[in-house]
Amino acid sequence: MLPRFRLGSRTLRREGRGSLSMEHSSLPAVELVVRTIAETAVANETYFCQLDSVVGDGDFGYSLARGFEKVLECFDGLDRSSPGAFLKKVGLAITSRVGGTSGPIWGTAFLRAGSAVGAKAALSGADVVAMLRAAVEGIQTRGGASLGDKTLLDALVPAIDRLEADLAAGGAEALANAAQVAERAAAETSGMLAKRGRASYTGERSIGSPDPGAVAIGVIASRVSAAWCEYCSAKGAMDRHEKIRQ
Ligand SMILES: Nc1ncnc2c1ncn2[C@@H]1O[C@H](COP(=O)(O)OP(=O)(O)O)[C@@H](O)[C@H]1O
Ligand SMILES: [Mg+2]
Repeated sequence: MLPRFRLGSRTLRREGRGSLSMEHSSLPAVELVVRTIAETAVANETYFCQLDSVVGDGDFGYSLARGFEKVLECFDGLDRSSPGAFLKKVGLAITSRVGGTSGPIWGTAFLRAGSAVGAKAALSGADVVAMLRAAVEGIQTRGGASLGDKTLLDALVPAIDRLEADLAAGGAEALANAAQVAERAAAETSGMLAKRGRASYTGERSIGSPDPGAVAIGVIASRVSAAWCEYCSAKGAMDRHEKIRQ
């Protein structure tokens, strides 16, 4: 029989090795991921600004932190009728606070991810991949960037590819592996020439330092992976405790 995890009044079912799907609602898991992304963005404001100061205009960390600060401010009041509705409100919160490049890009990513799953309550690994692919499409529609233009897409897309491959193989370490891929890919953007955003104004000088957006994706993916691990072990421990009491 598949081992089960309890999450408040909801039950999580472990499918194969590592991938989790909720029988009733994936909302708590989506909330955990969004909160982790937001707290990571706020905590790394200075670091992300420093990265953007090398060849950009130094505002990336500020923009991201203000957007996600807004998400945290209105977090408890966001629509929780479904994970998709929740994600759409997260996107709107970001665009309502931040303009420039990052507001529309990150806002669109959450809006598209939310739209991709409609009103579905329980999300599978395949749904998560579809949400991430929809976010990438939204970012590309909005900003016109292609892979290799030295943007956050150069870390995000390889990480999604790895996540999809590992989930298909039932890999327990899917999220951790995807985070590692994102961090490595972010470091590799150092060798690229920036073709989008303010950094592109510096031409050849953009070669030699990593893209701030790509680094942010690596940092965020690694925090989300760690938070997910803690969440799963806490649920496992709670489940074992309940079993002993029964
Ligand atoms: N057109 C674009 N499409 C996708 N990502 C982009 C684009 N332009 C910039 N980025 C990402 O945004 C990051 C910079 O964000 P930010 O500083 O807010 O924008 P700007 O470059 O306009 O100052 C870059 O490191 C890059 O990853
Ligand atoms: Mg900037």
